[in-house]
Amino acid sequence: MAYAEEIRRRRTFAIVSHPDAGKTTLTEKLLLFGGAIHVAGAVKSNKIKKTATSDWMEIEKQRGISVATSVMAFDYAGHKINILDTPGHQDFAEDTFRTLTAVDSVIIVIDAAKGVEAQTRKLMEVCRMRKTPVIVFVNKLDRDGKDPFDLLDEVEEELQIKVRPLSWPIDMGQRFKGVYNIYEKKLDIYTPSKQYVTESIEFKDVNSTELEKHIDAPLAVKLREDLELIEGVYPAFDVDTYLKGDIAPVFFGSALNNFGVKELLDCFVRIAPSPRPVQALERVVDPEEENFTGFIFKIHANMDPNHRSCIAFVKICSGKFERNANYRHVRFDKIMRFSSPTAFMAQKKEVVDEAFAGDIIGLPDTGNFTIGDTLTAGENLHFKGLPSFSPEMFNYIENVDPMKAKQLNKGIEQLMDEGVAQLFTNRFNGRKIIGTVGQLQFEVIQYRLLHEYGAQCKWEPLSLYKACWIESGDAEMLENFKKRKVQYMAWDKEGRDVYLADSSYVLTMAQQDFPAIKFHFTSEF
Ligand code: G4P
Repeated sequence: MAYAEEIRRRRTFAIVSHPDAGKTTLTEKLLLFGGAIHVAGAVKSNKIKKTATSDWMEIEKQRGISVATSVMAFDYAGHKINILDTPGHQDFAEDTFRTLTAVDSVIIVIDAAKGVEAQTRKLMEVCRMRKTPVIVFVNKLDRDGKDPFDLLDEVEEELQIKVRPLSWPIDMGQRFKGVYNIYEKKLDIYTPSKQYVTESIEFKDVNSTELEKHIDAPLAVKLREDLELIEGVYPAFDVDTYLKGDIAPVFFGSALNNFGVKELLDCFVRIAPSPRPVQALERVVDPEEENFTGFIFKIHANMDPNHRSCIAFVKICSGKFERNANYRHVRFDKIMRFSSPTAFMAQKKEVVDEAFAGDIIGLPDTGNFTIGDTLTAGENLHFKGLPSFSPEMFNYIENVDPMKAKQLNKGIEQLMDEGVAQLFTNRFNGRKIIGTVGQLQFEVIQYRLLHEYGAQCKWEPLSLYKACWIESGDAEMLENFKKRKVQYMAWDKEGRDVYLADSSYVLTMAQQDFPAIKFHFTSEF
């Protein structure tokens, strides 16, 4: 196959949701369609069960399983689909954010009964920042849920994106009859006892009395009214607007019952983007350029202290990656060769000879890579777009054993390179502060420092509200601010200025008193 064709047929995306909305179930059904697995239940949920929240070793074991399912690739209708899995537990939200930097589009799953939930809102923020095209799948229509129009309003309002339904449910819960596929003008009838589509009929004109032959008269009347309202209220679907990230097509269905999933997949392969150009510091890189480029978006550590190897996940941004070819590790300005790059087919991991833009490969690593590192065929290029978000929790990290200071520092540095948490250094007292999304990471760090680096640490709680990256065109005001807030100023790992606000009130006051200073809640602005 021609090289450009190889790239154009790729669809690299992530399915994201609030825990329990149905991400794992939907992923599994997509794999079944792709023939990548043959029985339901084959995909291990990487969702961390609620009962395990206090037992993080158990969580790490589950995360270990999830390496294999980090990327699931399969062929469908001539396309190569790469699904990137994201951790279900919100304490690992930062992992999910980073994974979103490696995808070209996203499917958001929403539970019809619960609507838009907290985690979905946050994930959408990242998609919006990056203008990632989004498709919404409203799941669990086999149960009673919210009114579909109310759900659409909720999605528009809460996720701040325009929507356009491409399928429409005919009743729901026990009375769920199926969906009208607006995109393909088809009527898909659902039979609860069989739990799949029993009739898929082309149905161009819903005003035809034929409709009553398939669904009861009141439902037919309601469907016609609903569709009329949809046509009146929502703009016609336009693929380019979707590709720009300005409108989200919406599908309804039930992942568990495999209803509406094939419709979603068929539409997805048609409209979802192939690998998109990626912005580097120096220039925009087009996926079809001949030379290989890529960046590391995730590092997965082996928890076994005797084998301290990691897998660095590379998103290929352009060209073709070849095994044993010489590539440049830009940050080190060093040439490297990789003899055993792995690709992920369904749930198998295997060594590959080549991979193309859009693909994800895993490189065995012994500490050479940091998240965000760029690899190229030689060019001096730096991909950007791996923002850090303000952590939610902060602790001073203290060394317990003075003889092990060196080990502790090395451990902290490497764990931060892996992206386990964020490190800040207080400018006033020089103390190290670790910022995380959830309590769990503190336990993980403490355990790993001890078991992998032989260093003991303890935590000293620090009550902070947010970390803000600051900048200003007014150098004098910036200096004044730093002087005034000297005890609350820190450097992040890259040496950038960060203001650690201890309450939302103090932050609002600072914003008022120093109008020429911009306060950012992500490290990229
Ligand atoms: P997640 O990855 O987003 O966290 O969700 P997951 O797919 O694990 O689904 C969460 C629960 O919702 C599961 O039930 C799953 O069976 C159920 N579910 C998914 N899709 C549908 C649907 O279309 N209709 C209905 N009624 N339920 C659905 P569970 O009891 O938590 O787990 P399990 O024991 O069934 O695996």
